[in-house]
Amino acid sequence: MNILILGSGGREHSLAWAVMQNPKCDKLIVAPGNAGIAQIADCATLDINSGGAVVQFAEENSIEFVIIGPEAPLANGVADRLREAGLLVFGPSKAASALEASKAFTKEICDACGAPTAAYGHFTDIDAAKAYVRTQGAPIVVKADGLAAGKGVIIAETVAEAEAALDDMFGGSFGTAGAEVVIEEFMRGEEASFFVLCDGENVLPIGSAQDHKRVGEGDTGPNTGGMGAYSPAPVLTDAIAERALAEIVRPTVAEMTKRGMPYQGVLYVGLMIEDGAPRLVEYNARFGDPECQVLMMRLGAQAFDLMHAAAEGRLGSIQVNWADDHALTVVLAAKGYPGAYEKGTVIGGLDALSEDGNHMVFHAGTAERDGAFVAAGGRVLNVTARGSTLVEAQQRAYAMVDGVDWPDGFCRRDIGWRALD
Ligand code: AMP
Ligand code: GLY
Repeated sequence: MNILILGSGGREHSLAWAVMQNPKCDKLIVAPGNAGIAQIADCATLDINSGGAVVQFAEENSIEFVIIGPEAPLANGVADRLREAGLLVFGPSKAASALEASKAFTKEICDACGAPTAAYGHFTDIDAAKAYVRTQGAPIVVKADGLAAGKGVIIAETVAEAEAALDDMFGGSFGTAGAEVVIEEFMRGEEASFFVLCDGENVLPIGSAQDHKRVGEGDTGPNTGGMGAYSPAPVLTDAIAERALAEIVRPTVAEMTKRGMPYQGVLYVGLMIEDGAPRLVEYNARFGDPECQVLMMRLGAQAFDLMHAAAEGRLGSIQVNWADDHALTVVLAAKGYPGAYEKGTVIGGLDALSEDGNHMVFHAGTAERDGAFVAAGGRVLNVTARGSTLVEAQQRAYAMVDGVDWPDGFCRRDIGWRALD
């Protein structure tokens, strides 16, 4: 089968790595890809947010299956255009991807299907929003409604802080994403991410993960896209996962189908767990990055069969072959990230690292220059390892990190600490 993956990060490198191991893959193209992906697949320049451009490219290259990595093409309706053209796609329609693209929509779905989540108000008017904050008190969570690259959520410790966040959002600091806000009850507990494949009717859990969003050790400092992750998440026990499926995921998927917008693809279920009870924090319409890297490390080649079954509506008759293993990924980022950072610095040592089914360096933001790898983004490498215990996976990952020669990069040395404490 000829396969096209859309995206250019560590998530897409890990998807490409898993797909390439499956004998059903004859040809793999990743658009636009990166320098690490280029070592295992063809990379192509393409406007992945244009449905027309992606359809044309797929037809010209005899593509039979398209896997969409990031949220932007989903929100732009690229999956819809591909399906209209008769192509097989892994990824939800524009309408269904509103579960990520609109927080107000997700809250409305939760109301309609009874899924437990934080109490909330939805506002398009700043005075009404501020009045709600004053009646609720702090701590309270203020969210821009639309896609804001992970930056549209403010956890306000005081009413004044919440009002300042509202001034910012209604003042346009998140563009149109901030013209509507959702204000939520602050939920306590421990967070975990749960990944479920959906084909519009059936749901199939494929693993859990926890990520480290803060830049600093001990989970301190500013938020990032994620500085590391591990799978499985010990806090998401089988019993809690079963509750999340029964109380949150299945009702949501049924509600979406009832509304004529069946959800097909991976549903990233962000949960808050307190006293054994899961509540929904958020949905994403795609794999997490870097959570995908640890899931792919554990699933390997079967990831392709699972995504293919989701796209063909066959999830009711496929199973995951679980191994009793653990995976952990450490993000190497450019110094300065998530603030300003330099691009183009040279990364050495990668060729000397031996990679196998237990050790992989996924590239998140690299380019090739004069035969060398150079940094091309904030998050640059995802050093990923698998082991029979989380400690073993962690030791293997940091042993590889120590082999990377990149004076302009940094990483957290404590990825996994919550699970190992
Ligand atoms: P989101 O973009 O909705 O995932 O929010 C980003 C992060 O903010 C989440 O991963 C949580 O850590 C935190 N968060 C969001 N909503 C809440 C809430 N209602 N209560 C507590 N923490 C939250
Ligand atoms: N790592 C968080 C996300 O992908 O949304």
